[in-house]
Amino acid sequence: MEIFNAIKQDHDHQRALLNMLADTSGDSKVREKYYKELKDALEAHAIAEERYFYAPLMDSDMTIEDSRHGIAEHHEIDELIEALDNTEFSDPSWLTKLKKLKDKVEHHLADEEQAFFQRAGKVLDKSEKSQLADEYQKEMEEQL
Ligand SMILES: [Fe+2]
Ligand SMILES: [Fe+2]
Repeated sequence: MEIFNAIKQDHDHQRALLNMLADTSGDSKVREKYYKELKDALEAHAIAEERYFYAPLMDSDMTIEDSRHGIAEHHEIDELIEALDNTEFSDPSWLTKLKKLKDKVEHHLADEEQAFFQRAGKVLDKSEKSQLADEYQKEMEEQL
C-alpha cells in the first residue's frame, strides 16, 4: 500500500462520520458516540499525517508550502473542535458549529487529495510511498 491510499481510507471514514453527525437531531447519545469517534479519528490522523506525510515533504521545494498550509489547517480544525467541546450536545447551536467543522475538514481533505497528493507523488519514490504507509498506519494504531 502507498501512503496516499492509507490516508484516503482514513479521510473516507472522517467524511462518513461527519455526514452521520450532520444528520443527527438533538439526540445527545448518538451525537456523543459519533462525535467522540470523529474527534479521536481527526486527532490521531493529524499526528500521524504530520509525522509520516508532511514532515518528509517539508524537505522539498515542491511540497513545503503544501505541508505548511496543511499544518495551519490542522490548527484551524483544532479550534473548531474546541468550540464544539464547549457546546452541549443538546444546544441548538451545536449543529451549526458541527457544519463549520464539516466544511473545513471536507475542504482540507479535498486539498490534500487533489493538489498535495499530485505533487507529493512526484517528490516521493516508490519505496518511500510504501514505507510511509507502514509508518503512518503503525502510528494510527498507537494513537487510537
Ligand atoms: Fe490533514
Ligand atoms: Fe489528511
